[in-house]
Amino acid sequence: MYQYESSKALFERAQQSIPGGVNSPVRAFKSVGGTPIFIEKAKGAYLYDADGNQYIDYIASWGPMIMGHAWEPVVTAIQQKAAGSTSFGAPTELEIEMAELIKSMAPNVDMVRMVNSGTEACMSALRLARGYTGKNKFIKFEGCYHGHADAFLVKAGSGLATFNIQTVPGITAGAANDTLTAPYNNLDAVKQLVAENKNEIAAIIIEPVAGNMGCILPQPGFLEGLRALCTEENIVLIFDEVMTGFRLAPGGAQQKLNIQADLITYGKVIGAGMPVGAFAGRKDIMQYIAPLGNVYQAGTLSGNPLAMIAGYTLLKELKANHGIYTELEQKTEYLRNGLDRVCKEAGIPYTINQLGSMISLHFADHAVTDFTSAAATNIERFKQFFHAMLKRGVYLPPSAYESWFLNHALTREDLDKTIAAAAESLKEIA
Ligand SMILES: Cc1ncc(COP(=O)(O)O)c(C=O)c1O
Repeated sequence: MYQYESSKALFERAQQSIPGGVNSPVRAFKSVGGTPIFIEKAKGAYLYDADGNQYIDYIASWGPMIMGHAWEPVVTAIQQKAAGSTSFGAPTELEIEMAELIKSMAPNVDMVRMVNSGTEACMSALRLARGYTGKNKFIKFEGCYHGHADAFLVKAGSGLATFNIQTVPGITAGAANDTLTAPYNNLDAVKQLVAENKNEIAAIIIEPVAGNMGCILPQPGFLEGLRALCTEENIVLIFDEVMTGFRLAPGGAQQKLNIQADLITYGKVIGAGMPVGAFAGRKDIMQYIAPLGNVYQAGTLSGNPLAMIAGYTLLKELKANHGIYTELEQKTEYLRNGLDRVCKEAGIPYTINQLGSMISLHFADHAVTDFTSAAATNIERFKQFFHAMLKRGVYLPPSAYESWFLNHALTREDLDKTIAAAAESLKEIA
């Protein structure tokens, strides 16, 4: 039986000094109830909490830990690099090597600018698209999350949906007025917005496979339709690949789905668990960025040596060893088939969405293709399922609106344990 006494005490203490006891809202377990688990360490596919409990991890730090935790080559590389100082604020050869490596992996990337988070990457890419086109408005999709910059916090998926936040205090109408939203997978709605705002739209930004309303796949023709529309209307198509980049394939969703964006944003895997992001794309657009152009963007710690060596070491392995992606996909399909079987046996309505190593189990028998259909699933049942799994040693994202991420360290035995835990949990909550 799992005990959470130390986590409870830490949460009590944390709330005295940190708003809500956490440094990022979804971690607070508010949407699933109960006390957040305080993690002490992790290795491979397992998390260990402050009470010494072990969990099979399906968060992977919300994506980055694709090889599993404390993967030896990254740990060693960081340790060695740290001995030569943790920051310079001046250029290094490693930054060139990192940019060259990204270019060699991702389609349609001539230039890369490193930043420190996915939020920064998306915020900067939007500014660049506006500077490049000289237009102000942009379209995002309901339920997609692109970080917490003001312009994006409109119908912004998981974090806000988890807390049922509709409008965000502190964001002025001015900042939000140029944000237009359309339902995911609805090309006609996008066409209508473009027609109604002729020559005013700088960019369309999208998670090419959505992960912030659970995992949701683009329907055939949807991304292709956006691509054609953007080309026709001189709109910059931005793929937010913060989740999908280097996860779905070495070249991310662009490669996996065989479709090219104009600008691409990265985060998570690109930093191997260090605070890193990047935006990248065609040279004719990227050259608008300072110091080449006038679109200003900067960062004291951007290109930080520890972050660069961590990301570089991981990406080099992912480039050299494509088998990792095949194995990850096989593991995820094995989990999917197992969940499929036990859900059927339990007689509970469900829908599983999966692509590559992203998967989510929605408690509803309708197709989940956009935010409205994701929100119409049985969120209460997910909460119960989450806790039933947790006490059986399986750590799922603490929200129905988040994709699960598999890591390469997961064994067949871990997956079998997870499926068995799901079978028991579904019985318990039925
Ligand atoms: C698709 C997507 N874009 C952007 C972000 C923001 O990244 P960060 O949390 O590193 O600022 C996230 C974070 O979850 C994300 O999932």
